[in-house]
Amino acid sequence: MLVMWCTRTALGRLQRIAPCTVTGFNRAMSTLPKVYVTRKVPPDGLDILRKSGQVQFEMWDSDDPVPRVELLKKVKGCEGILCVLTEKIDAQLLNAAGPNLKVVSTMSVGFDHLSLDELKKRGIRVGYTPDVLTDSVAELTVALLLATSRRLIEATHEAKTGGWGTWRTLWLCGHELANSTVGILGLGRIGVAIAERLKSFKVKKFIYTDVAPRPELANMIEAEYVSLDELAKQSDFLAICCALTPETYGICNWNLFSKMKKNAIFINTSRGGVVNQEDLYEALSTGLIAGAGLDVTTPEPLPTHHPLFTLKNCVILPHIASASYTTRNSMSALAADNLLAGLRGETMPKELKL
Ligand SMILES: NC(=O)c1ccc[n+]([C@@H]2O[C@H](COP(=O)([O-])OP(=O)(O)OC[C@H]3O[C@@H](n4cnc5c(N)ncnc54)[C@H](O)[C@@H]3O)[C@@H](O)[C@H]2O)c1
Repeated sequence: MLVMWCTRTALGRLQRIAPCTVTGFNRAMSTLPKVYVTRKVPPDGLDILRKSGQVQFEMWDSDDPVPRVELLKKVKGCEGILCVLTEKIDAQLLNAAGPNLKVVSTMSVGFDHLSLDELKKRGIRVGYTPDVLTDSVAELTVALLLATSRRLIEATHEAKTGGWGTWRTLWLCGHELANSTVGILGLGRIGVAIAERLKSFKVKKFIYTDVAPRPELANMIEAEYVSLDELAKQSDFLAICCALTPETYGICNWNLFSKMKKNAIFINTSRGGVVNQEDLYEALSTGLIAGAGLDVTTPEPLPTHHPLFTLKNCVILPHIASASYTTRNSMSALAADNLLAGLRGETMPKELKL
């Protein structure tokens, strides 16, 4: 019988809770690779780890992040780490883990929280969760785009608070997708999935930019490759779908906003770091662009007193693009499968090539 001890936070105190048990293994627990799971992950992934009989794992059994000090202690001697996007996996953490560490498996498709150079240098393999979240993120992006462009949050507020008088000709008018040009910055899996969904709204034209043309994906949605400048100039709706990298950090700044149309709607479901938020605030508050919908910000959570929250034309969501039960479970299952395959020295279902 394998016994796993789980820890959880309770008012900041560490508390040991009843052990979870998994049966059916012959190997002594102490000989199994040690794994640390940095957050309470959805049940599908946990079941895979429990039933594998391949690892002894300890989990930070909480919805809130494990304190860094605790994390640094817990990873010591681990062969595997299953993490989420709030944990910085950097040199300090890898040093704390020590030379046994073979695999880091993140329950995310984004990998900007991982120091890839440090991982590569140490020969540590990395698993991530592309594809399984694409539909959920694309769906949410469309919802956010419509909520922003058709001013849904303002409208429900007006309806609830007495602002709804008679039917008025231009009251709460927004911008429609029909006959529009939709621009995509970063035409990857999610960018294509967003365009596939938007097609049915009678979009006139899709344009995109990326590090280079991606004809195989662009052909699927009949999108035209343009420069970043042209993307800004031509788009009625601009969806940001690129990875956060040193090159894309702050790429959505005054330079970009100042080239955009007055009626343009800016949507970001990638990472907060791609946007210069001071510049975005200026662009929104001065009417340089019509509206913005953000699922991601810097920092997260965005403080409630942040100026962006004062703007009616800015819709802010708390990083929920992949938040469907199905998707979060699939992400945890894939993260667990990646971890186990990596520890066995086998091909991971989804490995990030370093
Ligand atoms: N909001 C959320 O909850 C959520 C969920 C999933 C993914 N994401 C974010 O979405 C991003 C995209 O996911 P994906 O699965 O489509 O990834 P992907 O790798 O398929 O697509 C990313 C695209 O960005 C492009 N890109 C990279 N650098 C660029 C640059 N300098 N200029 C222009 N384009 C550049 C890549 O070439 C690629 O085509 C992830 O990196 C992640 O950060 C956010």
